[in-house]
Amino acid sequence: MKTRKTDVLIIGSGLSGLMTAELLSSRKNVMIFTKKRVEDSNSYLAQGGIATAMQETDDWYDHFLDTLQAGCFHNESAATRQLVTDGPEMIQKLVELGVQFDRQSNGTYQYGKEGAHNRARILHIGGDSTGKHLIDTVKKRIIEKDLVVEGETAIKLIVKNNRCVGVWSMDEYGNMTATYAQAVVLATGGLSGLYPLNSNASTITGDGLALAYVAGAELTDLEFIQFHPTLLVNEEGKSVGLVTEAIRGEGAVLVDEYGNRLMKHEHPLEDLAPRDVVSRVLYRARMAGNKTFLDIRSINDFQKRFPTVTRLCKENGVSIEKGLILVAPGAHFTMGGVETDVDGRTSIAGLYAVGEVANTGVHGANRLASNSLLEGVVFANRLAHSIRSETDIALISGLEWEGIEILADSPTYEEIHEIMNNHIGIERDEHGLNQALRWFERYIDTTVIHEFPSLGEIKKRNQILVGWLVAGSALQRTESRGSHYRTDHPYQREKWQQRRVKRRKECYESVKSTAGA
Ligand code: SIN
Repeated sequence: MKTRKTDVLIIGSGLSGLMTAELLSSRKNVMIFTKKRVEDSNSYLAQGGIATAMQETDDWYDHFLDTLQAGCFHNESAATRQLVTDGPEMIQKLVELGVQFDRQSNGTYQYGKEGAHNRARILHIGGDSTGKHLIDTVKKRIIEKDLVVEGETAIKLIVKNNRCVGVWSMDEYGNMTATYAQAVVLATGGLSGLYPLNSNASTITGDGLALAYVAGAELTDLEFIQFHPTLLVNEEGKSVGLVTEAIRGEGAVLVDEYGNRLMKHEHPLEDLAPRDVVSRVLYRARMAGNKTFLDIRSINDFQKRFPTVTRLCKENGVSIEKGLILVAPGAHFTMGGVETDVDGRTSIAGLYAVGEVANTGVHGANRLASNSLLEGVVFANRLAHSIRSETDIALISGLEWEGIEILADSPTYEEIHEIMNNHIGIERDEHGLNQALRWFERYIDTTVIHEFPSLGEIKKRNQILVGWLVAGSALQRTESRGSHYRTDHPYQREKWQQRRVKRRKECYESVKSTAGA
């Protein structure tokens, strides 16, 4: 079996992984594994932008409060504060790397607005191709340094005495390699690909979460899965991309097939309510047999402002000329994940996590729009700093391959999707969650050790494990909060709304007094 050595091994090539590599590569030997190509990441598909309080009329504590309020105050407040206060410096860093954010004709940045933000504070690139431009810029630098191994899937973390010392991986031909490293960084994204309707790259199916779980790392908050209200759906009802929330920021509204405004009386922010709220309204409308559309008729120069959505519509035979785009809510982002501190450390020494796979606690129970690219760069920077400042340790190597657990009996991917959708979707209840849990357990019970498994067998095992973890977490949380809505424990909207506003006021006062703002 082949063996490699490096200082830092990063698994995943989204923005957080690439930025960690960029920030470390002048001091450390860095290697990045990506399952397919560098571009196969959620970051690459990100449309809306990157939120940051940079304007003179804005304040970090306003961004902070919007983040807490959208997250239903389940957020870790110190980490959230770090996220928003480090934002402007990281935007500057991106600009130094060559990123060009969209500007107005007078040369100042153009800021967009999205759901649950108090004001327009979202920087974007190429209208609605922010992720693509960000990744292309950072990727160019990484490729020049020859850091990426494409087509390499991490299949098991190598852990010795509760220290992660490397990774077993497999290429597309089934060849296995042991890579030993002082630091292993999970940057593998979330789990939304387990749902039939989702906005994610096809590679994002929870593998990093499964790797961490099997190694014994702590995972938290997995019940919080964000469903984006507006995925583009084709005639067969399949999701074929995202329709960015920034379009609602410019004035588009959600309607049913009769032209009724769906969000009109549902929330004070109407179409720009937090995503969990909007998704539930659309979900219920669809369950009642209605169709849900984004009405873009009020937007001038739509094609120019939103070229990615225009292209997606064209490629999928969706006409934008009539001004109504058929949309449906679908899985988009995993708030929970591998628990980390603000420097990316997990509960296993030598193992770090960054980006969507990590749970720093900044997103709470529902992520605020355009905070995920921000999270990617802010926490990549902190992680790189903490890895740089750690003293070198001797590499451990030469460990025996002991095989891997796979399922002797496994369902189809479609069956997994169906269980996730039917029982751990936008609305859940105890009965359904128990059914899902038992269903996953049936397959977990068939686990056997295999010395030379296929990638397909490992992927299936990972999905079953992750589905089971999500079902278990959702069952344990006997309340409704943010994206986790239990129909057997509903919240009373009026009361909840008042509570959110009261909490916002309290937080505002305490942050203001500590910041001297
Ligand atoms: C969007 O453009 O609507 C998605 C941005 C995000 O997920 O924050």
